Amino acid sequence: MNIEDLNRLNQEFRTKSPEEALLWTLDNLHPNVGLASSFGAEDVVVIDMMMRINPEARVFTLDTGRLNQETYDVMDEIRNKYNINIEVMFPNHDEVENMVRTHGMNLFYKSIDNRKLCCGVRKVHPLNRMLETLNGWITGIRSDQTQNRAGADKFELDEQHSGILKVNPIIDWKWEQVMDYIKKNNIPYNKLHDKGYPSIGCEPCTRAIKPGEDLRAGRWWWENDPQKECGLHVAHDSR
Ligand code: ADX
Ligand code: SF4
Repeated sequence: MNIEDLNRLNQEFRTKSPEEALLWTLDNLHPNVGLASSFGAEDVVVIDMMMRINPEARVFTLDTGRLNQETYDVMDEIRNKYNINIEVMFPNHDEVENMVRTHGMNLFYKSIDNRKLCCGVRKVHPLNRMLETLNGWITGIRSDQTQNRAGADKFELDEQHSGILKVNPIIDWKWEQVMDYIKKNNIPYNKLHDKGYPSIGCEPCTRAIKPGEDLRAGRWWWENDPQKECGLHVAHDSR
């Protein structure tokens, strides 16, 4: 696909629903496309939509080894409800061993470089390994999550990953729409969402937010940069 095709696709789907974007994606790319799911609220919505379109649609997750128990709970609930064989990607054990032997188990609190190193080893490298096998990937990102995501389209050519298609079906949804869909369709969701966690990453790096705080304030809460990302959707040096 070239840039003109991409622009045409975005033009065509601008006013169409997430389900229509997913239908096009699965019709054109399955089985060489998969949803990257952290099992946060956005991702369980996309899973529900995908399963209605094609029960064989692929879902993969990056298990960093540092997730919350609540995240594993919802993973199994979703697995059982939709009968999905979730493709779990683990970090490379040599890389994890080298990292924690050199920097310690809780290295992420010590410096931003260490934090990016950990996100690189535990998330970005396993993502790269999966994406090398695909022609496209689907995400649950929304434009009001970060400045970088504010500029994202429904369909993108992912230059960080050999130019494969990146599909963001609910890019223009608001948080309330996500939660409404979950409630209306009775979808299993991460119980941390009821405890003040709108955005959920790894257990040591995520906390609940206080009323009025930014939805991502609980992610890497000790860092000051307002545009914190782990490197899945923007490149870091550790890549
Ligand atoms: S992050 O980059 O800050 O960690 P965020 O938690 O907002 O990402 O999630 C945005 C999207 O990235 C999710 O909707 C999902 O598509 C993907 N994603 C994030 N974490 C994971 C994970 N552990 N496994 C698979 N996909 C993930
Ligand atoms: Fe490591 Fe924290 Fe990144 Fe998880 S969020 S990969 S624990 S630095």
